[in-house]
Amino acid sequence: MTDFLELAAKRFSARNYLDKPVEKEKLGLCLEAARLAPSACNSQPWEFIVVNNPELKNRLAAVIFSGIYQTNRFAAKAPVLVLVASDKGSIISKTGAFIRDTKFYLVDIGIAAEHFILQAAELGLGTCWLGWFNEQAAKKILGIPKNKRVDIVISVGYTDKIPPEKTRKSIQEMSKFV
Ligand SMILES: Cc1cc2nc3c(=O)[nH]c(=O)nc-3n(C[C@H](O)[C@H](O)[C@H](O)COP(=O)(O)O)c2cc1C
Repeated sequence: MTDFLELAAKRFSARNYLDKPVEKEKLGLCLEAARLAPSACNSQPWEFIVVNNPELKNRLAAVIFSGIYQTNRFAAKAPVLVLVASDKGSIISKTGAFIRDTKFYLVDIGIAAEHFILQAAELGLGTCWLGWFNEQAAKKILGIPKNKRVDIVISVGYTDKIPPEKTRKSIQEMSKFV
């Protein structure tokens, strides 16, 4: 079993993918990890849309990573794209978010997406968080209703890249004991 810190260090943004399909069972385990994520008032305001049909994935990638979004064209080579869609959460979490002037649903989907990604890393899969894509085009092609947002896309596939050295603030810079 992988030690958690080892797993956190092993995960990196994979921007090269091998021409090798991802097993549906592995995607199922990643979804299970995401399903177990905590959320404000347990509202679970997420939907994971797994696009693993090659024809649809190619058609989707061609439009969502074009124009001003083409810096993310590398993701079109990933055999799977996972769209993380959200609603604004339950009425209680929405009310709490309004009073606190924060967006709990975005915190929630961030946690769930990272659960998915860490499980993928444990299974030997490469992933990349993608926040820069044409959301309207994604919604149109997949028939996602107007009241939903697609906040994040995750590219998933096998990669032969090795994890690069992490560039991070030191513990002293990012934390304090008081
Ligand atoms: C919310 C979010 C959005 C991101 N969007 C993109 C993106 O659009 N394109 C990209 O190549 N990387 C994207 N990244 C990846 C970050 O650039 C990357 O996580 C960061 O540089 C640290 O590198 P590492 O993931 O390899 O540890 C995103 C990461 C997060 C958390």
